[in-house]
Amino acid sequence: MAYTGPFTAGDRVQLTDAKRRHFSITLTPGESFFTHKGEIRHDDIIGADEGTVVESSVGGEYLCFRHLLVDQVLSMPRGAAVIYPKDAAQILVEGDIFPGATVLEAGAGSGAMSSWLLRAVGEHGKVISYEVRQDHLDYAVSNVHNIMGGEPKNWDVRLGDVKEATRETVGEVDRVLLDMLEPWEVLETVRDVLVPGGVFMTYVATVPQLMKVMEGIRELGCFTEPRAWESLVREWKVEGLATRPEHRMNAHTAFLIWARRLADGVTAPRPQRRARR
Ligand SMILES: C[S@@+](CC[C@H](N)C(=O)[O-])C[C@H]1O[C@@H](n2cnc3c(N)ncnc32)[C@H](O)[C@@H]1O
Repeated sequence: MAYTGPFTAGDRVQLTDAKRRHFSITLTPGESFFTHKGEIRHDDIIGADEGTVVESSVGGEYLCFRHLLVDQVLSMPRGAAVIYPKDAAQILVEGDIFPGATVLEAGAGSGAMSSWLLRAVGEHGKVISYEVRQDHLDYAVSNVHNIMGGEPKNWDVRLGDVKEATRETVGEVDRVLLDMLEPWEVLETVRDVLVPGGVFMTYVATVPQLMKVMEGIRELGCFTEPRAWESLVREWKVEGLATRPEHRMNAHTAFLIWARRLADGVTAPRPQRRARR
């Protein structure tokens, strides 16, 4: 599936009208899309550059772009709440998700984070996603296939409890990401499959969850002192003298927790001060 270049047949395109309403179409030669402003011929878009304006049969104007991944994850059908893009960005950077990495993820949920991870590890990496609920797995598979334009070769998606993951069933992994209700239940699994130096991140919505994971990581003794934070992103309206922060924001989504796997048999020096990287 093309991410860039002139539009080709099969591309999913977002049309935006003058009232900023969005419509999605998949370009098919010979087909038309009908709006209250008349007919838009797919053939008028195929071959055009992204960012072009197409005119409908009665003069309506529509701006044409491919969907960005951020648009897709926010608009796709969901079984479970998705990791919000601002947090996905933190996970990709702080989790050091690199091309070629093997990442273990649970749960797959709606497949939003799986999509970000699949892109980041690239064709030489691998994402192993566990999901315990069949209905959520179905959403994840359908969404990821839609986004990636088919079944990604670098995705190993499994129905089951991530607790079942072992060195024998998943091998050694470079990174682990948990987005599930009770991540403290599977810390031994993370310990067993994560390579020394590997990064473990988990995403939890509430303070009791945050405390339980932090305590669990400390108790196991095979990780660095964990760090915890949240990210707040506030948009701004920039219009002359009215320039100011937007009134509304998604203030709380979840907390992020981060730790690195120590080498086997090593005890981390006791922290004297606040945890640092
Ligand atoms: C909030 S959703 C994950 C959303 C996903 N990260 C996304 O961005 O689309 C949490 C998911 O974890 C799954 N889950 C909970 N416990 C699990 C476990 N032990 N193993 C695998 N999946 C689990 C739930 O069924 C649920 O679908």
